[in-house]
Amino acid sequence: MGLFNTLLNVVAPPASLLMLAFAWPTLTFLHACEWFLHSLYREDMEDKVVVITGASSGIGEQIAYEYAKRRANLVLVARRETRLWGIRENARLIGAKAVLVMAADVVKEEDCRRFIDETVNYFGRLDHLVNTASLGHTFFFEEANDTSVFPHMMDINFWGNVYPTYVALPYLRQRNGRIIVNASVESWLPMPRMSLYAAAKAAVINFYETLRFELKDDVGITIATHGWIGSEMTGGKLMLEEGAEMQWKEEREVPVIGGDIEEYARLIVAGACRGDEYVKFPSFYDVFLVYKVFAPEVLGWTFRLLLSSYGTARRASLIGTGRPPMYLEPATPPKPLTPPPRREIQG
Ligand SMILES: NC(=O)c1ccc[n+]([C@@H]2O[C@H](COP(=O)([O-])OP(=O)(O)OC[C@H]3O[C@@H](n4cnc5c(N)ncnc54)[C@H](OP(=O)(O)O)[C@@H]3O)[C@@H](O)[C@H]2O)c1
Repeated sequence: MGLFNTLLNVVAPPASLLMLAFAWPTLTFLHACEWFLHSLYREDMEDKVVVITGASSGIGEQIAYEYAKRRANLVLVARRETRLWGIRENARLIGAKAVLVMAADVVKEEDCRRFIDETVNYFGRLDHLVNTASLGHTFFFEEANDTSVFPHMMDINFWGNVYPTYVALPYLRQRNGRIIVNASVESWLPMPRMSLYAAAKAAVINFYETLRFELKDDVGITIATHGWIGSEMTGGKLMLEEGAEMQWKEEREVPVIGGDIEEYARLIVAGACRGDEYVKFPSFYDVFLVYKVFAPEVLGWTFRLLLSSYGTARRASLIGTGRPPMYLEPATPPKPLTPPPRREIQG
């Protein structure tokens, strides 16, 4: 066995590289043809049913508007119900057919079962499940002195994808539907101060890549990996429970530099309707993959050089670091939202 492995160590790398030299251009050509064909035939979302978790802000909210433009029926899920009602009004104005609002915690399986069941009872179908719910953090791992927040990171960022997927799958199968996953470039290009978030996102990717094999063509999966995008998350919002929203003041006052959130939402919904397996924004990050495989040291040195100032410029979030509450203030509402006409489900 030892001799066999030694032999493969010598033979396999050059043989694989040679194969790659032929396979890569061929696959690139095939992907280009596939992309062209899919651009001609896009899924028509009119009257279809889309459940979006994490729809109360950021990317989830903008994704709701993109589906609204396509005249889909929407189910908006998050814990802050008042925000969802305002987004519902906006979505209806943009073109959504019926919009349901569901206050739910994606970490609780019973909540997920409830919003999926109510969706199917009301509309009789489910076509797309968009998982956007997430929680970020910005502390060095050693700064953490409250380990009780660690499971929250995994709960929201990993199990918060798994539970909705599990309960939605039987209905998605019936419609040949699609799951849209918001992962992050962090899943394979981890940055300092985001260790638990990056680990959870890597787990999310591996979970859905495995599921892709298991589901074959019955249910499509679009995995989105994006870089820094301006949102509540990048603004330092921290919220573990409904009603406990707080924000790291200094972080929020620093203007967020990031990608255009509307553009990203447009790309992800267009990609999902085209049947794309991946959506990347911005796509230039891909070049780092080459370095990661062939010259990881260069990547390490570059990041250390570039991010050495990043480490001191950003302040650690309260989450997990137990910093005194005097540094915190309640988050201000991001924009005026229309109050709910009624609290029960609206068609
Ligand atoms: N912004 C970026 O730069 C960036 C970069 C890479 C990847 N991403 C990914 O993109 C996705 C969206 O991020 P974003 O920037 O739009 O974040 P965001 O503005 O903070 O939105 C997160 C959403 O998740 C919801 N949420 C959090 N915990 C929840 C729970 N337990 N149950 C139900 N809903 C919950 C929040 O609503 P409530 O608080 O009302 O529940 C909110 O609507 C995330 O998956 C994130 O990891 C973002």
